[in-house]
Amino acid sequence: MPETVVPVSRERLLSMMTAYKSTYLLRAALELKVFDSLAKGPADPDDVAAMLRTNPRGTRMLLRALAAAGLLRAEGEQFSLVDGAEELLVSTSPQYCGGIIQVAAGDAEWDTMRDLAGAVRHGGTLLETDAESPGYPYWVDFATHLTFAVRPSAEFVAEQILPWAASRESLDVLDIGCGHGLLGFTLAKGDPRATVTCLDWPEVLAVAETYADQLGVADRVRYLPGNAFDVLPDAQYDVILLGNFLFQFSARRCAELVRRLAARLRPGGRLVIVSFTTGDQPPEREFHAAMLNLLMLAWTSTGELHSTTVYRNMLAGAGLTGLETHDRPGLPLRYIAGHRA
Ligand SMILES: C[S@@+](CC[C@H](N)C(=O)[O-])C[C@H]1O[C@@H](n2cnc3c(N)ncnc32)[C@H](O)[C@@H]1O
Repeated sequence: MPETVVPVSRERLLSMMTAYKSTYLLRAALELKVFDSLAKGPADPDDVAAMLRTNPRGTRMLLRALAAAGLLRAEGEQFSLVDGAEELLVSTSPQYCGGIIQVAAGDAEWDTMRDLAGAVRHGGTLLETDAESPGYPYWVDFATHLTFAVRPSAEFVAEQILPWAASRESLDVLDIGCGHGLLGFTLAKGDPRATVTCLDWPEVLAVAETYADQLGVADRVRYLPGNAFDVLPDAQYDVILLGNFLFQFSARRCAELVRRLAARLRPGGRLVIVSFTTGDQPPEREFHAAMLNLLMLAWTSTGELHSTTVYRNMLAGAGLTGLETHDRPGLPLRYIAGHRA
C-alpha cells in the first residue's frame, strides 16, 4: 500500500500486474488445506501430496510458490509453517482467516471487478444480479465469515455507546443491514437491558440468529426481514445503527433514509453511522477505502463511500445535534453519531 506518492516504476507495475497470482495461490492453498497438512510438522512434497490426495508434481510447484511468497519455509525438500501461519491459516485455529479470505478473495468480488472499465464507462454496475438484489448470495457469506474481522469494530462501537447508554431508561437498538449482527449483539452483551432489532434480508438474518444464540443474547433479539427502504418499523429506539450500510447507496438516498430513521429515535437517542470513508485524507492514505469504492462502483447502481463531512451533513440535515466523530488507530472505520434533541 503506497503511503506517499512515489514515481511509477517497473517493479511497482510488475507487482500490480501479478498480484492476482498471489491471490489464487492463497485461495488454492486454503482450498487444498496445505497449511493444515503441515500443522503437525515439516513434510516433503510427496508426503503432503499423499496427505492431500493431490498430484506430487503439482504439490511440489505449489509448495515452492508458497515458500516464494513467504507463507512457508523451505529447507531442502522439507516445507514447514512460518510464524503466524498456525494461528491464521490452519483451519482449527480460533483466529483462522480462511473464511474472510474466501469472501474477500472469492469469485463474487472477482467476477464483479472483471469489467471495471465497463462500470466506469457506464457509471455503475453492469451486473444483472448485483449487490442490491434481494437474495444476493454474497451477503450470506459476508455475514457468515467476516465476524473475526468485525469483532474489534463491534467492541469499539460498544465503547462509544455503553457508557452513555448507562444513564438512559432503556437501550432499544435497531441495527439496519445488520449482517452477522455483531454490532448490536455486542451492545446486548454489554448491557442486560438492551434489546436489538435486526433488519436485513431474510437469509442473512438466519445467519445472525446463529450468532445471537452463540453470544447468549437470543432472547433479546427480534428480526425484521426485508428491504431497509421499505420495512422500517414504526417503533422508537434509543440507538439506530447503520454499520457499513450507507456506502451501498447514493448520498441522496442515504440522506432520505437517515431523515426517516431520525424520526424513529427517542428523545436524546443516537443515530450511529459506522463506515469506511473516502475524501477525508489524500487518496494515497486511503488505499483500502479507494479499492472498496471501486467494488461499490462495479456492483451497485449508485453506491459510493462518502466522506465524514457528507455523513455529518446527513445527520445535521435530519435535525440531529451533538455530532460526534471517532476513529481508532488500526481500525479502518469511522464512528459518526448524532443525537435527537
Ligand atoms: C457490508 S454488510 C454490513 C454488515 C454489518 N452491519 C457490518 O457493519 O459489518 C451490508 C449489509 O447490508 C445488507 N443490505 C444491503 N442492502 C440492503 C437492503 N436494501 N435492505 C436490507 N439490508 C440490506 C446486506 O445483506 C449486508 O448484510
